[in-house]
Amino acid sequence: MTKSTIKGIGHYVPENIVTNDDLSKLMTTNDEWITERTGIKERRHRKNRNDTEETTAFMAFKASEKALEMAGLTSKDIDFIVFATLSPDYYFPGCGVLLQEMLGCDTIGALDVRNQCSGFVYAMSVANAFIKTNAYKNILVVGAEMHSFGLDFSDAGRGVSIIFGDGAGALILSASEEENAGDILAFNMHSEGKYAEELCTKFPGSKFGWSDRMRLEPENVTDAEIYPVMNGNFVFKHAVTRFPETMKEALKSAGKTIEDLDMFIPHQANLRIAQFVQRQFNLPDEKVYNNIQKYGNTTAASIPLALSEAIHEGKIKKGDLVLLSAFGSGFTWGSILFEY
Ligand code: UT7
Repeated sequence: MTKSTIKGIGHYVPENIVTNDDLSKLMTTNDEWITERTGIKERRHRKNRNDTEETTAFMAFKASEKALEMAGLTSKDIDFIVFATLSPDYYFPGCGVLLQEMLGCDTIGALDVRNQCSGFVYAMSVANAFIKTNAYKNILVVGAEMHSFGLDFSDAGRGVSIIFGDGAGALILSASEEENAGDILAFNMHSEGKYAEELCTKFPGSKFGWSDRMRLEPENVTDAEIYPVMNGNFVFKHAVTRFPETMKEALKSAGKTIEDLDMFIPHQANLRIAQFVQRQFNLPDEKVYNNIQKYGNTTAASIPLALSEAIHEGKIKKGDLVLLSAFGSGFTWGSILFEY
């Protein structure tokens, strides 16, 4: 059976570091509150909010270049793109086609995934299915997010805007028949749409426009509609329930146990959520990788950003068993279990 192996991986973040103290100049907050509740010390934001060059697709392009270099491939070797983001350059088209153009790929298919924090798990699962059915040989899977242009930095938005940051991660999933090549052993994806409005951005959405109101009429739109809103406590409680469920499901379907794991990379939603899950499974610190302290929550980018760092730092080695799990807006959640 064809194996889905990670041939290359890379990441990119904007240079501009925004500390908790920097945020406290914009809204009523402080380093102690943010650190205590989320574990975040700093995040990256596009330096100039009017900079139209450093976009979601641009960050994805930079991360993809690194992934291609590691894989020893060129953009002409890529057969398909799967791009996960909730913060695309345009309302439509999605970022997949922009990345195809920036990289100079052939006129290959480019699929956009809209599953927020679980976006990368969904994207990688889709890519895995195409590899396993021998449809494509080299698939570029991307998670990228430019949050900083769309957050409410007034006191009204402080419960949300302190969490999110910008960044991108990209990996190349390739078909391999080699005996000792890595492989995706299990995946699962879930959703529960009744909680859509517990974590969402309403505009520009068709539910919120009608015949006498265009998609975006500034005088009709309130801040609460254009910025992300989150019922933080509610999301937190669901996250700490769904994470263990999806993790156990992935391990069980591959016939593995938590003791077999070499590395667990949770979506970087909140360090407290990751630590809660780590305690539940008695995982030692060296088997869990977190970088939310440096980058905040980068939604669809958080897992590939952490996976890329962990691999490039040598914390994941060939043959290691790695579990990626995510939970977020939708609600959506899921996991990927793979051998590197
Ligand atoms: O990645 C997608 C999934 N997202 C998540 O998993 C996020 C899950 N939720 C969370 O991480 C947490 O709910 C937050 C970090 C967002 C918030 O932490 P919390 O402990 O749930 O705080 P809270 O919203 O219950 O607010 C507690 C207090 C409130 O004041 P009062 O009403 O007790 O007087 C807030 O007004 O903290 C206040 N507050 C702040 N204070 C200082 C809210 N935001 C801030 C802030 N700085 N930035």
